[in-house]
Amino acid sequence: MRLLHIVATFSLAGSALSQSNTVDAYISSESPIAKAGLLANIGPNGAKCSGAKSGVVIASPSTNPNYIYTWTRDSSLVFKAIIDQFTLGQDPSLRSQIDNFIKAETFLQQVSNPSGTVSSGGLAEPKFNVDETAFTGAWGRPQRDGPGLRSTALITYANWLVENNNATFVSSTLWPIIQLDLDYVAGNWNKTGFDLWEEVQGSSFFTTAVQHRSLREGAALATRIGQTSLVSNYNTQADNILCFLQSYWNPNAGYITANTNSGRSGKDANGALASIHTWDIAAGCDAATFQPCSDKALSNLKVYVDAFRTIYTINNGIPTGSAVATGRYPEDGYYGGNPWYLTTLAVAEQLYDALTTWNSLGELNVTTVSLAFFKQFDSDVVVGTYPSTTANYAALTGAVKNFADGFVEIVAKYTPANGGLSEQYNRGTGVQLSAADLTWSYASALTAFGARAGTITASWGASGLVVPSRCSTAPTSTSSSSTSTPTPSPSPGSVSVTFNVHAITVYGENIYLTGSVGQLQNWSPDNALLLSAANYPTWSITVTLPANTAIQYKYIRKYNGKITWESDPNMQITTPSSGSIVENDTWR
Ligand code: NOJ
Ligand code: NOJ
Repeated sequence: MRLLHIVATFSLAGSALSQSNTVDAYISSESPIAKAGLLANIGPNGAKCSGAKSGVVIASPSTNPNYIYTWTRDSSLVFKAIIDQFTLGQDPSLRSQIDNFIKAETFLQQVSNPSGTVSSGGLAEPKFNVDETAFTGAWGRPQRDGPGLRSTALITYANWLVENNNATFVSSTLWPIIQLDLDYVAGNWNKTGFDLWEEVQGSSFFTTAVQHRSLREGAALATRIGQTSLVSNYNTQADNILCFLQSYWNPNAGYITANTNSGRSGKDANGALASIHTWDIAAGCDAATFQPCSDKALSNLKVYVDAFRTIYTINNGIPTGSAVATGRYPEDGYYGGNPWYLTTLAVAEQLYDALTTWNSLGELNVTTVSLAFFKQFDSDVVVGTYPSTTANYAALTGAVKNFADGFVEIVAKYTPANGGLSEQYNRGTGVQLSAADLTWSYASALTAFGARAGTITASWGASGLVVPSRCSTAPTSTSSSSTSTPTPSPSPGSVSVTFNVHAITVYGENIYLTGSVGQLQNWSPDNALLLSAANYPTWSITVTLPANTAIQYKYIRKYNGKITWESDPNMQITTPSSGSIVENDTWR
């Protein structure tokens, strides 16, 4: 890389400094407000908890929209933040809150609800009434991130207890509820459900990522406390989930497609949220788990952020490479579709986590995948490894820090004078709207501020993982009712194979599959099988193929009667003896 322009660096440093002062001042005034705002929403004694039972977190005290419910996702993320503060020794007074939360969740797990009972799917019910009864109205259910997030919060606490001579409490009280959640994840991760925004029924990156994390650290905890019979299944399913996780990556457009089945661009805060909630500094910048500093997560972050530059009026005039207000996803229409505090803060947090990781590695690596992210700051950046002793490392990390602070500064700018954080701030005026005092907004402020201060949360076993070359179980769709549809079982001697191929096509052009067996039309281009573009740019088809057989295949394109074959060689798979597999390919 040519040296970053000295003059420009000097003038940038001046503005970076004043921005950093603004952010410092905001963090010192907002931190106590966020902490108090979060605790106010937890029963039984929180000032705004609206009659919530002990340990129950309300999403917000707002009655319009009515958020006086307890969501497993929100509560688990809020308590993960509390448990991190407690276990890192930052606030010993939080212990009684954690004890209350454990009791509340132990009870809620057993409450039968429209998703089922504790043993028939009820663990994926998204929300409950604050008196710990089931919410029986219509809702986007099930949501399968809850058990993963809850067990992750509790495992963090369990590990601390084991390290602090209280393994007995872990075995007798915590493990039974952790195990219920982990068994649920291990047995159901491959079923579709509603995403974290409660809107899309399909598979969702955030859900898959947090499920993966929970089983990995669950296996480690099980080993630690002698629950060894569960370990191999948790690890096997974690491998399968890690394999499936890769399929969300869109290599052509450089971002994570948040959901299957959404009919949207797939650009979504889902990716940044997954990255910060599965950060493990021991994994460095590993892309298989989409670590905050991985090339894929950084590329995704840029695409996600850029999707909001032109759609929100409050972002007008902000140049590329500077922070903007971001929301859940660009197509959002909830309350008119606005930026959210927790999504804008997630961008900052991912970048702070990335900076902490690069510092621990002593280097920063720019790859072809992350190049566009870094070029936002200096168009002369080139692919390479920059040791922390170099001027280029200092310039790049300085620019990333400045970019990250910019997102906090946006949040600061649109925080009202009393410091309260609702769910959203208006896309045209910046005035806050939707649910006031959103507990998750406060938690996201605390974790983003902690990340800026260099807080390192506990590792969960992300380091050194190897993605299996083939995914052994494909996700299966479920109806929205509480009972799940069993996977269709192919006839004996055959297996179900899903072929996914990323292929960019023009309107009217289609992707087909043909290959060396009758089920694949014996290499006939005319009779080749048409793939579905429901998840474009991924084209897919599921076919029944003979078991234990080596099969060759290729994808072909058809456009205006013209056939184009993929380049050589033929693709080859050997089918397993039973079950179902997924092949994830990229058009050649
Ligand atoms: C309430 C959900 O919580 C929210 O995520 C969604 O956007 C709206 N309903 C509209 O579907
Ligand atoms: C709507 C959000 O989309 C969802 O993620 C959240 O769980 C609920 N509101 C409650 O805060």
